[in-house]
Amino acid sequence: MRLLIIVCYLAGLITAQATAAIPDLFTCINKVFASTGDASKRLITPANELYTDARTGEKINDENYPIAIAYAFTTAEVPALLNCATRSRVKPTIRAGGHHFEAYSSLNGTLVIDIAHLNSVSVSSDRKTAVVGAGTRLGGLYVALDAYNTTWTGGICPTVGVAGYIAAGGFNMQMRSMGMAVERVRSIKAVLASGEVVTARKNYKDDTAYQIAKKFLEWAPKADPAFTSSIFIYKDQVEVTGWYLGKTQAQLQTLIDSSGFQSISPKNLNQSIVSGNCNTDASRVFGVQGGIFECQPTSPFITFALNAAPDPFTPIPGFPQYQYNETTSAPTVWTAPAWNRLKRKSKSFIIQKDNLMKAAAIKEVVKRIQSIDTDSGITAEWHAWNISGTASQDTAFAWRQKAYAHMEFTVRGSDDAAIEATRTKWMNDLEGYLRPQLGAASYTGYADSKISSNPFKSYFGDNVCRLVRVKRAYDPTNVFTNPLAIPPSVPKGVSC
Ligand SMILES: Cc1cc2nc3c(=O)[nH]c(=O)nc-3n(C[C@H](O)[C@H](O)[C@H](O)COP(=O)(O)OP(=O)(O)OC[C@H]3O[C@@H](n4cnc5c(N)ncnc54)[C@H](O)[C@@H]3O)c2cc1C
Ligand SMILES: *[C@@H]1O[C@H](CO)[C@@H](O)[C@H](O)[C@H]1NC(C)=O
Ligand SMILES: *[C@@H]1O[C@H](CO)[C@@H](O)[C@H](O)[C@H]1NC(C)=O
Ligand SMILES: *[C@@H]1O[C@H](CO)[C@@H](O)[C@H](O)[C@H]1NC(C)=O
Ligand SMILES: *[C@@H]1O[C@H](CO)[C@@H](O)[C@H](O)[C@H]1NC(C)=O
Ligand SMILES: *[C@@H]1O[C@H](CO)[C@@H](O)[C@H](O)[C@H]1NC(C)=O
Repeated sequence: MRLLIIVCYLAGLITAQATAAIPDLFTCINKVFASTGDASKRLITPANELYTDARTGEKINDENYPIAIAYAFTTAEVPALLNCATRSRVKPTIRAGGHHFEAYSSLNGTLVIDIAHLNSVSVSSDRKTAVVGAGTRLGGLYVALDAYNTTWTGGICPTVGVAGYIAAGGFNMQMRSMGMAVERVRSIKAVLASGEVVTARKNYKDDTAYQIAKKFLEWAPKADPAFTSSIFIYKDQVEVTGWYLGKTQAQLQTLIDSSGFQSISPKNLNQSIVSGNCNTDASRVFGVQGGIFECQPTSPFITFALNAAPDPFTPIPGFPQYQYNETTSAPTVWTAPAWNRLKRKSKSFIIQKDNLMKAAAIKEVVKRIQSIDTDSGITAEWHAWNISGTASQDTAFAWRQKAYAHMEFTVRGSDDAAIEATRTKWMNDLEGYLRPQLGAASYTGYADSKISSNPFKSYFGDNVCRLVRVKRAYDPTNVFTNPLAIPPSVPKGVSC
């Protein structure tokens, strides 16, 4: 299954700062929204009681106060909203799923164009492609595709937006044999900064914690590529989960038996569950929602957990919640329960094949995980990469060939300043310890404004210069931007 993403990756006219033009901006947006007769419901400004909810994505964001949030309901509204912003000299910020790790889909002084309601999914008669609204949430996409007995190389979290996910590359639990999500995008219908709508296509060519962690990194990225797996290291628990794509339970058992995990002292190991014939959807919500940790051939609950609404999050305590037309991508199926918002801190490191992590460093990192406060909810989620094949050097994803594993560390933020400071220090110390050993490579889908290396090199590797050229061609005045975005001129620390 390949996707055609419609509206809107927005690429590259504004020079001066916004000043007097705000009333014009609102008049213009109201005109765009006039066709539904409910413009006031779709334009949320700071004066509106729904503003706090509307400006907040998954990560609670106490730093950015957009001028307004405009909720598009048809793809045609997107270029029109963009033109309103441009004419008023206001920068647009595009929000799909609202999962940006630094909440950069809702920036100060900008017009947020929310596209979560652009979530239609339409499957071709041969079921090999689908046209998908760029605001579609991953869970709703899977459920809509299920109705056609087909699916796509998607990620885990049902509320992530397809646009942001693909823009980051899109790692997934089938990728060691099937590649990253972006490799299965056939074309993208996009709005340029000029307001022009274009379709971009590529020339597609088919083509006991430390011991377990150490064993995982030694074994999992080298195992049969049909097996994609992760390790979750918590303060007092460790889990290895994997998906042996297209193989039987007996084959999985043989693979696990050959892994050497058994040689690790059994007293440290909990019951290992080897299951077969999982429902594909079940594998994607494994552990994510509803505490489902067992493979289930089918379960109505799983479909239900996936089918996320356009505005899918839990309310922010003390603030009313924005809701509009909450029709999901699969309207005949029950809507999923609300997804929790949180304050998050996170770090990402990609281990490269030519610089594997030393055992002493794995030991030290596990020790650090075990020493942070319990309420931090520390989760170290490491994924085996070593993606097979030579495909797709024609994407901007820099690390496909070099990545051996990805390490992600996440803790909750706290409202208590002292606790917050401790957690920030923990994260910064981790960066200070690991970055010099592992190098700059990181996953831009886990964007981190406090990264100690040059972020462009970290996220885009040798592709930075090419991306700057593309940016200059399509968005020379840097209409679409955020603090970690590729600029139209060569960024500091990079030479082209
Ligand atoms: C709980 C959770 C689980 C995750 N699981 C995975 C996973 O399994 N695999 C994986 O690869 N990643 C995963 N991620 C990372 C995720 O893919 C990235 O954070 C992604 O950028 C989120 O996309 P979004 O559309 O939800 O977010 P948004 O915040 O809406 O967008 C992210 C960025 O893209 C920009 N953007 C969004 N839409 C458009 C558009 N149409 N045009 C131009 N710019 C746009 C935004 O302005 C922002 O800068 C996960 C993240 C979370 C929070
Ligand atoms: C956003 O603007 C507010 C004031 O309007 C300011 O307090 C805040 O620091 C700004 N945030 C950022 C990220 O610049
Ligand atoms: C999907 O598969 C089921 C079971 O094999 C079948 O009953 C159904 O008709 C199929 N649906 C489509 C759209 O092919
Ligand atoms: C990548 O995986 C293959 C198995 O598909 C294995 O033979 C190879 O050694 C692995 N590469 C590295 C760098 O471990
Ligand atoms: C082992 O797993 C069971 C359920 O499968 C759980 O109840 C128990 O807490 C786990 N024990 C440890 C030490 O993780
Ligand atoms: C909500 O949107 C759906 C399509 O997404 C549409 O079919 C339905 O009529 C809309 N309902 C209302 C009340 O606008």
